Amino acid sequence: MAARKHACEQELTLNRRTAPDIYLDALAITKDSTGALHLGGDGEAVDWVVKMRRFDQDQLLDALARIPGALTRAQIEDLSESLFAFHAAAEIVRTQGGHAAMAAFARANAEALDKFGAEKYDKTEMTRLADLTMLRLAAVAELLDRRRDDGHVRRGHGDLHLRNIVLLKGRPTPFDCIEFNEDFAIVDTMYDLAFLLTDLEHRDLRELANAVLNRTIDLSGDIVALACLPLFLSLRAAVRAHVDAAQKKFGEGAEYLDLALDFLTPRAPRLIAVGGLSGSGKSSLARRIAPAIGGAPGAVVLRSDVIRKRLAGVGLYDKLDAASYTQEMSGRVYTRMLDEARRAIAAGHCAILDAVYAGPGERDAARALAGEFDVPFDGLWLEVPLSVRQHRIGKQRKDASDATEEVARAQDRYDLGLIDWHILDATADLGSLERQAAQIL
Ligand SMILES: Nc1ncnc2c1ncn2[C@@H]1O[C@H](COP(=O)(O)OP(=O)(O)O)[C@@H](O)[C@H]1O
Ligand SMILES: [Mg+2]
Repeated sequence: MAARKHACEQELTLNRRTAPDIYLDALAITKDSTGALHLGGDGEAVDWVVKMRRFDQDQLLDALARIPGALTRAQIEDLSESLFAFHAAAEIVRTQGGHAAMAAFARANAEALDKFGAEKYDKTEMTRLADLTMLRLAAVAELLDRRRDDGHVRRGHGDLHLRNIVLLKGRPTPFDCIEFNEDFAIVDTMYDLAFLLTDLEHRDLRELANAVLNRTIDLSGDIVALACLPLFLSLRAAVRAHVDAAQKKFGEGAEYLDLALDFLTPRAPRLIAVGGLSGSGKSSLARRIAPAIGGAPGAVVLRSDVIRKRLAGVGLYDKLDAASYTQEMSGRVYTRMLDEARRAIAAGHCAILDAVYAGPGERDAARALAGEFDVPFDGLWLEVPLSVRQHRIGKQRKDASDATEEVARAQDRYDLGLIDWHILDATADLGSLERQAAQIL
């Protein structure tokens, strides 16, 4: 009985990290002198249970994900922010995880697929998946161990798919974390997140998956994790494929197997830059084009505004004053942004740079970086008259940008030099701007 009590308390404590409103109590089922059973009475405990608040099943993210438009970008960004905070506070474990742990997951997947998938799936596909997985594992073996040593392996959620997240009072709330298996619960935080990304991809919600990735990296700066992402996504999809086969459910498993393979299909990285004065719509356009660029879940967007906040050690939406906009600070921000782009491309991932890029030197440096890796470069310059930019800046809400109408006016006097990027008339609405950009890209 002590073990049951402990298990229930453990479930309560661990799940309260993300869902304190759902996990109410651990209660004993007690027996009184007449032999009648009570919940939380004071007789002898015959079992233990977790008391949870009931919620509406239609509010599970898995249900919402099937209704077009039901899950919003704002909700998903909110979820990403709370998951980042959850992971940041989670217990670091350096004695688990790393290459050995991921290799064990890969082996377990291959065996389970062989065992349960034989009738259902194509043998050559399963073999190809196992081979590609081993190749990827080998490619990131050292990185996985380094990430563990650096503290990225933590007691996370462990089972972060869409059926384990519920919209509660408008906020996506993860619940039902793994509490019984340390190998599943203690993983690289990016592997933890990969379950959510895989499920969003499977539901064709690439834009939301891209938003999760980008908001997480905005906060963490963990660009290097991108190198592990294809492996992590694929392993999560493979789990879905073999679990589906084992449960003899027919339908989604095959889609997950295809996804698992697709995640491991290499895609050539490329670098894109979106420049323009404040309020020209760079961040809006970058966000729109990112999902379709490169492999799942689309390009990482590296924003000068976000990097400046990270360098200053303040929150994304905290305002910075003029002291953070000196030439020296600006130089550091552009250098860091290029550095992050370099790491993204080295990891095989596509990157979009989002910054003003008013100076020819900065623009040339972006192009030169792509040259270092011999990857394609496209610069998009958004041209918008001052009055429109000022109007747009006035509309900006909850954004990392500190631009004001005065900043916009000052920028109007900049000498931009020769702009040898694609110049777009960005007074157009976002939809048509996105189409113009797509044509160029
Ligand atoms: N093409 C557009 N048409 C209308 N409004 C836009 C357009 N592009 C951006 N906006 C709006 O203008 C504001 C500033 O856009 P943002 O993308 O943040 O600009 P930047 O990143 O260049 O400073 C946002 O509120 C955004 O919704
Ligand atoms: Mg911006």
